[in-house]
Parts: sequence; C-alpha cells; structure tokens
Amino acid sequence: MRKVRKAVIPAGGFGTRMLPATKVVPKELLPVVDKPLIQFIVEEIVASGIEEVILVTSRGKGSIEDHFDHFAELELFLEKKKRDDCLDMMKTLSGMVRIVSVRQPYPMGLGHAVLCARSLINDEPFAVLLPDDLIIAPRPCIGQLLDVFNEYGDPVIAVLAVPGDQVPHYGIISPEPIRENLHKIKDMVEKPAIADAPSDLAIIGRYVLPPEIFAVLGDTEAGIGGEIQLTDAIRRLLGATQFLGLQYEGIRFDAGNKAGFLKANLYLGLRHPEIREELGAFMRTLDLSEFMK
Ligand code: G1P
Repeated sequence: MRKVRKAVIPAGGFGTRMLPATKVVPKELLPVVDKPLIQFIVEEIVASGIEEVILVTSRGKGSIEDHFDHFAELELFLEKKKRDDCLDMMKTLSGMVRIVSVRQPYPMGLGHAVLCARSLINDEPFAVLLPDDLIIAPRPCIGQLLDVFNEYGDPVIAVLAVPGDQVPHYGIISPEPIRENLHKIKDMVEKPAIADAPSDLAIIGRYVLPPEIFAVLGDTEAGIGGEIQLTDAIRRLLGATQFLGLQYEGIRFDAGNKAGFLKANLYLGLRHPEIREELGAFMRTLDLSEFMK
C-alpha cells in the first residue's frame, strides 16, 4: 500500500462570498477566534501524519506562505519582552510542516487547482483539503479518511447528509452502503437540481485521491459554472477505480460564507479558555427575539 505523504490545499480563489474582507486579505487567513482558517487545515494535515503541504495559490496570496515561515524580528522581539508563550507558538508554527507552493494563474475551478499540483506529486496517492470546510473532530477528518484508505486501499471522499434544499450547492454521491457510515460511490454529480440529486449525501472538502486523477483532469472539459470540476473527473474514474464515501465524525462549518464563518467563530470562541466566559456572558444578554422580528 502506498503511503499518503502529500496534501494539496487549493487556495487560489478570490473569496467573493466574503468581500470586502477578502479584497486584500486572502480568505484563508481570516481568523477563527485567533487562528487563521488555513492553520486549522495545516494542523489537521500534520496531526494525520502527512509530511508535505502543496499550496495552490494565486497573485496576492503570498502572505499565506509567510504565515508558516520564520519571522526573525518578531521572534527576537518576543524573546526580549520575555513573551515565551507567544515565542513558543511562533516557533511551533514555522516548524510545523514542509510547505511548497504552486500558482494557479486564473481560478478555473477546483479540478484545475488540483491539476496545478501534478508535477509536485507525480505517481502517488495524495490528500486534498478545501480550506472553506472547517471540520472539528476528535480524530482529524483527513486522518479518518486515511484510516479507511489504509484498510481498503481505495480512494476515499468525505460525505455528509445535508438538508434537501442544500443539495444544489454540493457534489452529491449515489451511495451503496458497505458498513455503517461507509459507502461505495456508484455515481456522483456536481451541484444537481434538487429533483436530479441521487441522494442527500454531499461531498465535503476532504479527499484521498489516486494519481490517475491527473491524466483525467488534464482532458476534463469545463462543467457546471464554466469551471473544471473535480467531481466530473472523479466520476470518469468510477468505472475503473472504486471510490468510497465516508460519513466522518465531527462538526463541519462552511467557513467560506458569512454565516458559516461566524458560526465557527462562536463555536470555537465558546470553547476558547481565554474568552469563553466573557463571550458566553455576552451571548446570554442577547434577546434573540429582538433579531428575529
Ligand atoms: C466544492 C466541490 C463540491 C463539494 C464542495 C464542498 O464546491 O466542487 O463537490 O461538495 O466543494 O465544500 P465549491 O464549494 O468549491 O463550489
């Protein structure tokens, strides 16, 4: 069994759902309480034993790499001020994992972003994590997928049952149950109309993919939204390769939209030792009926 050593994070998009905040600041660096979204993703990768991160970025997104780099002046400053807590945090951050990056010249879709990492991966299975999907779980979500990959030897995709009216926002699978929470994927469709959805199981942004996906992505035409869709490429592999869908354990936030981003901040804020009491006390003062009129 080939080991999954590399993880791709597509981070080239404009983040239009969070404008104007994302005009200059990459959406991946927006903080959930005090930690940028992308750091949660990189921590998930590291905690799952993956050794290298491939960031697919674009113009103006260099600060994502800076976040994981050494910052000598800051470290010196913290040392002088005897801020050992912050200093340790900064050192851990910059030594966390090997990060390489590749540019996506224009956002042409998730499939195209993954294809940009081709020469850095070559011929081995790899993970893909979409930074919009923030997943808080006892065992990191990508680690749960790797457990299944190591057991079955098949590529695995995270799936989640979503309310019926939400299916047009996701890739949706047609499942055949294997065991509790694990399905063989018979088919999949990107952002179907409600009437055409084969189930309510939505693809969530965690994948363990085989290297064969690159050749298919290379000649996949633009699909829905005029973008090269990863779902369309995986679908073309389904006959030759068995793909599994795992209903992972954990809570997921769509942190790429305003409501999901704020929910993530509240959820983690109420668990943050420094602020949970103050935040909880404030929330108890809110008369929600005021806002629901
Ligand atoms: C992407 C995928 C989609 C998946 C979703 C999960 O869509 O194309 O299949 O369900 O991520 O977040 P996007 O949200 O980038 O449009």
